[in-house]
Amino acid sequence: MISAEKIPNNVNLSSNKRLQRALEHWQPKYIQWWRDMGPQGFQDYHQVYVRTAISVDPEGWAHFEYVKLPEYRWGIFLADPVHDRKIGFGDFFGQSVWQEVPGEFRNQLRRLIVTQGDTEPASVEQQRLLGQRCPSMYDLRNLFQVNVEEGRHLWAMVYLLHSYFGRDGRDEAEELLERQSGNRDKPRILEAFNEPIDNWLDFFMFTMFTDRDGKSQLMSLSESSLDPLSRTTRFMLTEEAHHMFVGETGIARILERTCQLMKQAGFSEDVRKVGGIDIPMIQKHLNQWFSLSLDLHGSEVSSNAASYFANGLKGRAKEDTFDEHIVRDTFYNMEFFEEGKPVTKEILMRNAMNEVLRDWYVGDCAAGVARWNRILEQHGMSDRLRLPDRKFHRGIGMYSGFHFDPNGVPLSKEQWEARKYEWLPSAADTEYLLSIMDKPVYEPGKFANYIAPPRRGINQQPIDFEYVRTEQ
Ligand SMILES: [Fe+2]
Ligand SMILES: [Fe+2]
Repeated sequence: MISAEKIPNNVNLSSNKRLQRALEHWQPKYIQWWRDMGPQGFQDYHQVYVRTAISVDPEGWAHFEYVKLPEYRWGIFLADPVHDRKIGFGDFFGQSVWQEVPGEFRNQLRRLIVTQGDTEPASVEQQRLLGQRCPSMYDLRNLFQVNVEEGRHLWAMVYLLHSYFGRDGRDEAEELLERQSGNRDKPRILEAFNEPIDNWLDFFMFTMFTDRDGKSQLMSLSESSLDPLSRTTRFMLTEEAHHMFVGETGIARILERTCQLMKQAGFSEDVRKVGGIDIPMIQKHLNQWFSLSLDLHGSEVSSNAASYFANGLKGRAKEDTFDEHIVRDTFYNMEFFEEGKPVTKEILMRNAMNEVLRDWYVGDCAAGVARWNRILEQHGMSDRLRLPDRKFHRGIGMYSGFHFDPNGVPLSKEQWEARKYEWLPSAADTEYLLSIMDKPVYEPGKFANYIAPPRRGINQQPIDFEYVRTEQ
């Protein structure tokens, strides 16, 4: 029997029998999925110091306790309603927002929700083996915090499917547990969510860049005219911030340690000889995850994106900071690649909405990279990290049929094949990373050689706190 205790919520679940029954039917399948596809080796005998959202106000939402992972209380929360909220963009600008799904937009909205929902369990699947190679107990706990919250994000999308999409929604909710990251027959919908994440450099880059794509998408969905979708995604954004914190500080701590090791080894020495992660290796992983995450924003010119905007389903990040919200006769200057040369053309702004969101995303990423570079600077290093050109290593959109180096210089297929591992992780790079991560560090307060400790612990606990404990 589902109760507010089992599923913390602010949607008055106990009074909605139909929804309650639907979720009761889905929940055991979810738990089975979590056991099969969630963190491997940490299901039965470990307790993790995690936060659980029990309400949307600041105190309720930062509730910390030790929990066995399968017993985590995945809840359903919508941010507080905005009184008299009006549609903020598109053809229905200024009208009241919708509390129900308009029939004519049902398919489009379902598609948006399913695509978002599919990424949530996918990332848990991608990360399921990382616990066995963790650099510290602090990091292990952060991994699990991210994992349970991605699980909650799945709940959030399943709540919408069950509540507003009837039979189709129920079917979609089941399928969200049936597709599997990297599975040849039933893969996850988006490509970056089928890539394996088997080492912690990948994990930190994923949470920095791919969770930040999550932030872009959630920001644009939080503008939606469908009010329950807007409120759900607004609350999800507060959790997303922690995921990006894990990624950004994870890489910052690796950089910190790399600088220390470089000094110890003598500046010219190869930092790998002392078990560190060299800066070119970090840059290659940045290139990999940044380019995969650019693809997640979709094609540069997109009639779907135009239609989502026109219909008021998906807005721009921070829609209220734009001067004009109907955007019918404005243009975007877009760079095309024709006959080996860049050419700028005017595109109707609505058709360029994916690119507009990608611009916002690139800016947000660049600010993070600048923060990383300050660490290198403080250590007196001349190396700097940078974002590759957005044409580099693209699998979706107008650049996907061509090859470019990280400066955006066109390459022939042969040149690309000959040089790609200068810019992307090679099998040998991965092998090296796995060699320095072969043993987990489970002792409180101890850290793997390649990463510095964090500045502070979680929830004001000390760094050597027992963030994950084994049951006796
Ligand atoms: Fe998420
Ligand atoms: Fe996330």
